[in-house]
Amino acid sequence: MSEKILLALDHIEGIASLPVYAQHGGYAVLKKGLSDIPAQQVVEEVKISGLRGRGGAGFPTGLKWSFLAKPEGVPRYLVCNADESEPGTFKDRYLMERNPHLLIEGMIISSYGLGANTAYIYIRGEYFYIARILEQAIKEAYAEGYLGKNILNSGFDLNLHVHVGAGAYICGEETALLESLEGKRGNPRIKPPFPAVQGLYNCPTVVNNVETLAAVVPILDKGGAAYAAVGIGKSTGTKLISASGHINRPGVYEIELGVPVEEFIYSDEYCGGMRNGKKLKAVVAGGSSVPILPADLILKTAEGAPRLMSYESLAEGGFQTGTMMGSGGFIVMDEDTSIVKNLYTFARFYHHESCGQCSPCREGTGWMERILHKILDGHGTIMDIDLLWDIQKNIDGKTICPLGEAAAWPVASAIRHFRSEFEEYVLNPHLIEDVKHYYRLQTI
Ligand SMILES: Cc1cc2nc3c(=O)[nH]c(=O)nc-3n(C[C@H](O)[C@H](O)[C@H](O)COP(=O)(O)O)c2cc1C
Repeated sequence: MSEKILLALDHIEGIASLPVYAQHGGYAVLKKGLSDIPAQQVVEEVKISGLRGRGGAGFPTGLKWSFLAKPEGVPRYLVCNADESEPGTFKDRYLMERNPHLLIEGMIISSYGLGANTAYIYIRGEYFYIARILEQAIKEAYAEGYLGKNILNSGFDLNLHVHVGAGAYICGEETALLESLEGKRGNPRIKPPFPAVQGLYNCPTVVNNVETLAAVVPILDKGGAAYAAVGIGKSTGTKLISASGHINRPGVYEIELGVPVEEFIYSDEYCGGMRNGKKLKAVVAGGSSVPILPADLILKTAEGAPRLMSYESLAEGGFQTGTMMGSGGFIVMDEDTSIVKNLYTFARFYHHESCGQCSPCREGTGWMERILHKILDGHGTIMDIDLLWDIQKNIDGKTICPLGEAAAWPVASAIRHFRSEFEEYVLNPHLIEDVKHYYRLQTI
């Protein structure tokens, strides 16, 4: 049974209110932190913990924090990325809805460590009801003296604001998010300079995911070393996984990093096995952007070792036979799933969400969508499959932000592992009737 670190309190009734959160030990870490722990020590503990960003890239959080520029007389900002637009990912929503004070406490401690006196939660527009939950919790924290001026007589000031986005996937990319927060169109910036040097309003800024910032509370509570003792290798601690698809028990699970994928899918503690006793066909392990893997490669690496739910194990084999942890959006597909139809759904999404700044992404995502539609509509040729391959290659690595890769990798991996299915659509007209029906449903 995985130890619950982030979801230890989520089942408690009323935990979203400050008094109940406090009754269960909430804000104790903040009180201890501000009185006993020097700001630099907060950063050190996070470094020791080995915590890696939970937004998708898995970059070590302590290291990112240590890059924060500290020029005299210039404000620094902490921004929480609560955009959560990656298809298949819904764990931040769960965390904020159930236990908003955990995020708020994590943000206060993190801001103290970083020397930021203003912090923002940038939340996607579709989560407007969670913005209200957060605003209510923030109000309670101000009233208790945990936010505002001279917090708990420590001399540290912090104002925390909630900013609701307008539902664009690209605004989850950290520099597009900062543009949007500044009131501009959410176009990603060219990096460098990175946000740690020139971020919000050109000032040093740390952008972190909801789950990352919430994890700062248990790290400071138990100590970085204790957190690092949970998990496996460089995948320390626990991770929230949004599990969906053809499984018996979809939902948000907190796993200790290192749990075997097979156990995650089949054990009753997690997904509870395949729905209706069907066979596992494929898994998208980290949100729609990461490479899809067929059943044999998600359960075992190409070398035959059990595949584990860790950053390293999921990536083993590179893009030939591996995938990525990403944001932990774990989408399970059974034997009846059409990989091509599924890919078409993803392709439509990326075409719709491309910001249009870079030609390879703006044009390429549209071409990929149209070619997939052509194949599904019964007019595809074998050459179209090769064309799809070429287009994704011409997007990958050629754009300002990784939305290009996010659009390219699902196409590349689907062709790599399931090429015969594309060919079947091109060669077998009986499949196409079924697809026409599917397409009608999609466009209604
Ligand atoms: C197109 C795109 C969308 C993204 N969406 C999100 C998101 O919704 N939430 C998130 O935390 N990170 C998202 N990211 C990653 C962020 O750019 C950034 O790496 C992350 O917020 C850093 O936080 P972390 O270090 O705590 O993971 C996205 C990246 C890209 C390229």
